[in-house]
Amino acid sequence: MSENVARLVDLAPETVSFRDAVLHGLSRTPKSIPPMYFYDEPGARLFEEICRLPEYYPTRAETAILKTNAADIAARIGPEAHLIEYGSGATEKVRPLLDALQDPVAYTPVDISAEQLAAAASDLAASYPDIEVTGIIADYSRPFTLPPPRRRPARTRAALFLGSTIGNFGPAEALAFLQQAARRLSDGGLLLIGADLRKDPNRLHAAYNDSAGVTARFNLNLLTRINRELDGNFDLAAFDHYAFYDPVPGRIEMHLVSRRTQRVSVAGKTFSFGEGESLHTENSYKFTVEGFRTLARRAGFTPEAVWLDDDNLFSLHLLRAT
Ligand code: AVJ
Repeated sequence: MSENVARLVDLAPETVSFRDAVLHGLSRTPKSIPPMYFYDEPGARLFEEICRLPEYYPTRAETAILKTNAADIAARIGPEAHLIEYGSGATEKVRPLLDALQDPVAYTPVDISAEQLAAAASDLAASYPDIEVTGIIADYSRPFTLPPPRRRPARTRAALFLGSTIGNFGPAEALAFLQQAARRLSDGGLLLIGADLRKDPNRLHAAYNDSAGVTARFNLNLLTRINRELDGNFDLAAFDHYAFYDPVPGRIEMHLVSRRTQRVSVAGKTFSFGEGESLHTENSYKFTVEGFRTLARRAGFTPEAVWLDDDNLFSLHLLRAT
């Protein structure tokens, strides 16, 4: 009997898009770079460290929801399913679901972080000999073609978008992403999606300003990546991590703020920063249960179920494409 091996499909012209995104983002006022570029190999590892921090509750809360309700979720998805996961990262959260599903056919994780995806996909293939695992390296915020299972056809399709990564999109982009997902799943497929909840701003503030400084290192690692991959000369000591919660739009904003007037060169181009000038690196929107359901309905989904953790910190929604 041969071993179950994961297949990898690379759909990301990554270095080109990173260079363009950085040069474009540094030329804009205010300066900004999309958060998907946090996840080079060290960045993906730092994010895994964030997930274990005492202040960062979302990962633990969502994992608890998935474990507690795995049987219910699996029953609603049904037998012989093809699972697709957007932004799969370390893919640890999908295991309780794969364990609970009846005869799952295929698992297709999609992520921009190539090294992490390759390792996670081959681990999963080894753990689940009967599941066809195909890792797709792609920017899932853009359209791409999903290869169907090769070994045997699936009866249903369910997409997973966990971790409240949907919160990285602004309202218009989140709607567009969900509309695209609804079109892809329009054969009656399901979307299981995590959404972090609005709550005490102090609790949210602490989750992005941890006392060990890991979130600061995660944020600053973007500059290290630019220095290494794009021949940049950012002085990391000349930038501060700054993250705050604005309860009006309901979002965390993360910035790297210049401590002084300075010039930085990247890929042969020069950019000036004023003292206190920000490079905006991330938005992380928080939701109410009803607000999220309304967004889902507008995108073409019917909310089927929602689960919360015991402390009502995080929500997991099951949506049916209509
Ligand atoms: C991966 C987007 C869900 O917004 O909480 C964690 C990323 N940034 N700490 C989040 C993140 C800073 C995370 N998401």
